Amino acid sequence: MQEVQNYIQANKDRFLEELLELLKIPSVSADPAFKNDVIKTAEFVADSLNKAGVDNVEVCPTAGNPIVYGDKIINPDLPTVLVYGHYDVQPADPIELWESGPFEPVIKKTEIHPDGAIFARGSCDDKGQLYMHVKAIEALLANDALPCNVKFMIEGEEEVGSVNLGIFCKENTEKLSCDVILISDTSIIANDTPSITTALRGLSYVEVEVTGPNRDLHSGVYGGGVANPINVLCDMIASLHDENGHITVEGFYDDVEELSMEERKKMAEAPFNEEAYKKSLGIDAVQGEKGYSTEERVSIRPTLDVNGIWGGYIGEGAKTVLPSKAFAKISMRLVPHQDSDKITELFSNHFNKIAPDSVKVEVKPHHGGAPAVTPTDTPEYQAAHLAMIDTFGKDPIPKREGGSIPIVALFEEVLNAKSVLMGFGLNSDAIHSPNEHFGLFNFYKGIETIPYFYKHYAELKK
Ligand code: BES
Ligand code: MN
Ligand code: MN
Repeated sequence: MQEVQNYIQANKDRFLEELLELLKIPSVSADPAFKNDVIKTAEFVADSLNKAGVDNVEVCPTAGNPIVYGDKIINPDLPTVLVYGHYDVQPADPIELWESGPFEPVIKKTEIHPDGAIFARGSCDDKGQLYMHVKAIEALLANDALPCNVKFMIEGEEEVGSVNLGIFCKENTEKLSCDVILISDTSIIANDTPSITTALRGLSYVEVEVTGPNRDLHSGVYGGGVANPINVLCDMIASLHDENGHITVEGFYDDVEELSMEERKKMAEAPFNEEAYKKSLGIDAVQGEKGYSTEERVSIRPTLDVNGIWGGYIGEGAKTVLPSKAFAKISMRLVPHQDSDKITELFSNHFNKIAPDSVKVEVKPHHGGAPAVTPTDTPEYQAAHLAMIDTFGKDPIPKREGGSIPIVALFEEVLNAKSVLMGFGLNSDAIHSPNEHFGLFNFYKGIETIPYFYKHYAELKK
C-alpha cells in the first residue's frame, strides 16, 4: 500500500489537471442542447478508464445517455466490487450568480477549504468523486496491488432519474454481478470528521396545474367575483403543512419508520453546530417539524417542498390580469418504508380533494425513487470504516443523509447487492447551486482512501 500511496503523491498534479479537463465539458443531462457534450463526457470517462489500465471498457448506448462500463477481473474466485458514479451534472442556472464560469474550473481558497477548492459544476457532484475512483484504480494497477475484482458503471442520467440505468441493470445482471456496490456521491461531516452515509431519502415529485376561468381576465372587471387560480394555489399549498410543520396529506405518515429514542440519541452525538449552520446560510432561524432537531428534519423525517411556482404576469411593469392558470412543482422526500408511487397517489387524491369548486386541478407525476438504508454490520461497511481510519486517523461516524440516489434501492433488488456510500464531499460545497466546489483535500483524500477500502474488503471476505 505504501507504493500505491507514493504513486498518488507523485502524480497528484497530473490527476488534478485531468479532472479539470473533465469538468470543462458541460454534461448537463436535463437539457437536450448538451447532448453532444454528454456523449463527449462519456467518451472522456471511457478513455480515462482505458488509460488507467481497466479492461473491457465500452460506452454502452441506451435510449438516453450512454453508460460507461469497464472491469478488471484479476481472479474470478476473489470478491468483486462494482463502482457506480454519474458523469452528468445539474444545469448551471442561475448562471449570473457564478463568480467564474461553471465550466471553466478555477482553484480558490475558502475558509472551509484553506488548501483550495475546485470551482465548477460537477466538481463535487459527481465528476470529482467518480474521478477519484479512476485515479485510485490507476494507482493500484500501476503498482500491481489490486486485491480484488473491480467493475465500473458510470451513468449519465442520475440527475434526471436514472430511468435507462434501471433498464440497463435489469438487462445485464450477469455482466454486473458483484458482491458489493461502492459509491462516492455523498458527503462527510467535515474534513476533520469523517462519516459514512447509512441512509438516503426517497423522492416523489409532482407538477400541479390549477385552472380557473377559461382565459386570462381583466382583474378589475372580474376580480372579486371569479376565483384567481394563483390565490387558490397559494392557499392550497399553505394548507399542506399544519402549525407544527406536519404534512397534512392524508396517510402521508402511515409507513414512516420511527427511530427509537436510542438511535436518535446516537444520532445527536454527531457534531453539529446550529449557529454556524444558520450563519453559513444567512438565516436568523431554522424551521421545520415540531419535535425534531434540524439534523433529524433533514435526514430521518419526510418533507414536502415547492420547488417552483408560476403563473400570471411576471414581465416588466404592472399588468392587471386575473390569470386562467397557476402551476407549481412539488417534491416530497421520503424515509424508509414510504413508497414513492403510493405517496404520489396520496398526494394526488388529497390535492384534488382540497380544491375548491371554483377551479379544476391536475396532478402530473414526475420521477420518483425509493429511500435506501445500508447496514453497518457488513464486511463492506467495516472495510469503509477501516479505510477511513487509515487515512483520516479517526473513526468515521455513521450518518443518515437527506439527499436521494434512487438507483441504490434498485441495485439491491436487481443486482442483489448492498451499497456502501463512501462519499468525500461537504454539504457546504454548493452542489446543485451556483459556485459548486470540491476541496483539493477531499479529492486527494478520496483517491488515498479507496485503495484501502479494496484491501480491507478483500481481507474481510477471505
Ligand atoms: N449526489 C446527489 C445526492 C446526495 C447529495 C446524497 C448529498 C447525499 C448527499 C445526487 O446527485 C442528487 O442530486 N440526487 C437527486 C435525485 C435525483 C432523482 C434528481 C436529489 O437528491 O435531488
Ligand atoms: Mn450525485
Ligand atoms: Mn446531484
